[in-house]
Formats: sequence, structure tokens, C-alpha cells
Amino acid sequence: MQKMKFFAVLLVVLSMVIFVSSQTPSAGPKEEAVAKAITDYLIEARGVIARNQPIINDAAKGDKGFTPEAYESQVAAGLKAKGVDLQGANADDPVGKALIEVNKAAKETVADAQPVINEAGKGFKAFTPAVFGARTGDKFYKATGIRLKQTSIKFRGDYNRPDEFEEAILKKFESGWEKGKSYVEETTVGGRKVVRSMTPLYIAKACLPCHGDPKGEIDISGRVKEGYKEGDLRGAISTVVPIR
Ligand code: HEC
Repeated sequence: MQKMKFFAVLLVVLSMVIFVSSQTPSAGPKEEAVAKAITDYLIEARGVIARNQPIINDAAKGDKGFTPEAYESQVAAGLKAKGVDLQGANADDPVGKALIEVNKAAKETVADAQPVINEAGKGFKAFTPAVFGARTGDKFYKATGIRLKQTSIKFRGDYNRPDEFEEAILKKFESGWEKGKSYVEETTVGGRKVVRSMTPLYIAKACLPCHGDPKGEIDISGRVKEGYKEGDLRGAISTVVPIR
């Protein structure tokens, strides 16, 4: 009898342990994969917007043909070359769902900007990769609760200002960080468990008309060129992915 009681108690304790552990969120890999997917997407998408600046800012032309569909096909081709199948993304999988949502936010951003993009007789449209990135990040956050932004120590726009965490990691990136490597940390933000990631963002050819040489000269946007060279660290893509 005594033995039976012992096993009964043991059973209750064991099932409690199993219940509690099944309730604890499984942190890490899934959120990290989401962070990576949306970061890779935004880097590719910003590149598409940068490469289309000469068309977007062409004062001699009205309809530019840079529609949400044209944007999407360019971003999908770029991602495909990196082994990411945007069109085949599966909404039942957290990574696929995040990709679908970020692509939707980006296409909406391009759609909203159509009247500006297609304005004839006007040069600079202020639809820069940074403006596109911030608008896409805001829409994506509203749809998913996941934060996605660009930031830099040398920020031109206050909305890209790094927070304390971001500033610390940007400084790490500036002092002998492995090229292209992301920083990922499980932490809490506002009492919620999250995965935070930061991925370095480098200067490509298409960035040079505005961020390159000659340093100190004014670019098409009326800002001061930083004198960056191709491959220089420009900033980072930062994400905050809640752990569910
Ligand atoms: C047509 C000019 C232009 C091009 C091309 C361009 N940028 Fe920018 N960039 C800007 C402007 C202007 C800002 C300031 C934010 C804004 O647009 O409001 C900015 C801001 C940024 C920021 C955010 C930090 C900050 O300064 O506020 C990053 C990061 C950045 N650019 C990186 C790039 C990269 C990388 C490329 C190439 C893929 C690129 N930019 C191409 C004009 C440009």
C-alpha cells in the first residue's frame, strides 16, 4: 500500500514536471531562423531600391514601370540566387510566414509610393532604401509584432538612431568583427522574452552615388556624402523577434 502511494505521488510529480516544461516557450532556433530570413530579405530589397534610384529619380520620365510586381520579381530573383525561394514560401511554417508578411509589407510600401515615383518633371523622390526600409519595417511590425529596422552609428535620419543595445553591437562590428557574421542574443524587451539579432550592412556599388566619394560633397538627396568605399561597413539590420 505504502509503495502504491509512493508511485502515485511520483506519477503526479512527473506529470507536473512534463506539463510545466511543455508550457515553457522553446526559445531560440525558430526565432533565429525568422530573424535571419527577414534580415536577408531586407538587405536584398534595399539593394533593389538602391539599384532603381536612377530610374526612380529620372525627371524626364513619368511612368517608371517600377510597380509592386516589378519590385517583387527583382527581389525574388535576387533571393533565388541566394537559395531563398520567395514564391514557394510556406505560410504554415514560421519562416515562410515571416517572408510572406515582409514581402507583403514591402509591396505595399512600393504601391503607396507610386504617385511620387511616377511624378514627371521631378528629380529626387526621397524614396531611398532607408525610407523604403523604415516604412516596410513599420508595416511588418504592425502585422506581426516583429521589429525590423536599419540602423547606423553614422545615422542621417533620426528614425535610424541606434538604441543602447544596437549601439553596443555596432561598435563590436566596427572593431574586428568577422565579415557578414550576425550577432544573436536571447534577452528580454519590456518583460518579454525575445531573440534580438544584428547583421552588418555593407556598402555596395549602388550606394556610392549617395554615400561614397568625394567625401563632404552633397548627394542627390541634399545630404553630405560620407566617403564610403564598396565593402565598407555602413550599419546594420536589427530585428527583435518575440519568443512565442
Ligand atoms: C539616392 C541616394 C541614396 C542611395 C543610392 C543610398 N542611400 Fe542610404 N541613405 C540616403 C539618405 C538620404 C539617407 C538618410 C535617411 C533618409 O533617406 O531619410 C540614407 C540612410 C541610410 C542608412 C540609415 C542610417 C542613416 O544614415 O539614417 C543606411 C544604413 C544606409 N543609408 C545604407 C545604404 C546602403 C547600404 C545603400 C546601398 C545599398 C544606400 N544606403 C543607398 C541616401 C541614399
